[in-house]
Amino acid sequence: MNDDVTDGAFPDGFLWGTATAAHQIEGGNWNNDWWAWEHDPDAPTAEPSGDACDSWNRWEEDVALVADLGVGTYRFSVEWSRIEPEEGEWSRAAVAHYRRLCEALRARGVEPTVTLHHFTTPRWVVARGGWEDPATAERFAAFCRRVAGELGDVVARFCTINEPNIVATVGWLLGFFPPGRTDAALRAKVNEVFVDAHRRAVEAVRAAAPGVPVGLTLSMTDYQAVEGGEQRLAEMRAEMEDVFLDATEGDDFLGVQTYSRMRIGPDGVLGPEEGVPVLDMGYEYWPASLEACLRRAWDHTGGRVPLLVTENGIGTTDDDQRIAYVREALSGVLRALADGVDVRGYTYWSLLDNFEWGYGYRPRFGLVAVDRETFARTPKRSYAWFREVVRANRLVAAP
Ligand code: NOJ
Repeated sequence: MNDDVTDGAFPDGFLWGTATAAHQIEGGNWNNDWWAWEHDPDAPTAEPSGDACDSWNRWEEDVALVADLGVGTYRFSVEWSRIEPEEGEWSRAAVAHYRRLCEALRARGVEPTVTLHHFTTPRWVVARGGWEDPATAERFAAFCRRVAGELGDVVARFCTINEPNIVATVGWLLGFFPPGRTDAALRAKVNEVFVDAHRRAVEAVRAAAPGVPVGLTLSMTDYQAVEGGEQRLAEMRAEMEDVFLDATEGDDFLGVQTYSRMRIGPDGVLGPEEGVPVLDMGYEYWPASLEACLRRAWDHTGGRVPLLVTENGIGTTDDDQRIAYVREALSGVLRALADGVDVRGYTYWSLLDNFEWGYGYRPRFGLVAVDRETFARTPKRSYAWFREVVRANRLVAAP
């Protein structure tokens, strides 16, 4: 391992970014499975998404915040249930909305990175069987074809499916995401449908928007075997990561997303280790996960696909802890780069404090605070610090 990252400089052209997702910021996304889930009294959710950050209306404020941050890209998602509210029924108004957003970003020198599926699925898709139904792969590809055709001229890159492994595992095995199932066989099936959906989505984007890069964004974890947990770890990783890593061959990039580690014993997941801080998300403060996951993605795929950190960040009310976390994570990126891992960029999750799914609004991932009553946006110290890093293209000291 090469530890010499003392000058802290990132390569020329390193792509800095920040990210959000439609359901977490737009507000009023009532036509998808998550909204239904949030309003199911039996579902394990903290609170409904409601107006979120009202970004459907306040998107110009978001664009200004992104542009002032100086980043090269803003990763956001388009909401399938707005663009195709019923099967084959396309909303010109919704597409026009996202076009305005892309054009405003371009006008400020920011590349739009567009995620086509970020956790939420239209109600009509779910009514026809959702992700358990192999036909959903083609339903999704049709949506991708449409969006790529409509927006391909203003989008810089497309992410097909955000963290399909999390959607499948938390929704069909752990029961904390819709549809709240706990069935290992179904989870395996949903994994397969997602793999197929990704491959079809890549083809659809390439056909409709030739030359626009497209890839998958995967949730990765720094899995660590403890006292004989190697076999169990390999099994977990096979279904959580490998099945999807193997599906990225030929893609233009692989989006790596990671937040923490997981210690695995012979019987499965062990809790946090004594002495390691535990965050609002229930997992350990573990910034080293980024370097570990980048190396793992690179090794597993044999360096076939360039890597892009499409998400990394921390949910905390302690902004100094956020800065320390990102600093440490970025030093890991530098070490990986020095060892030849092809990492093209780093995207901080998230621009805004927003709707953190089952946890509601409590975890604060944003570089910018959002007042829950007025939706007023207030940049944090971490925003100013990250802007410095981006401007210098190197790891600057914490303020
Ligand atoms: C992964 C998801 O893509 C995003 O929606 C979520 O808010 C962050 N990680 C933080 O948990």
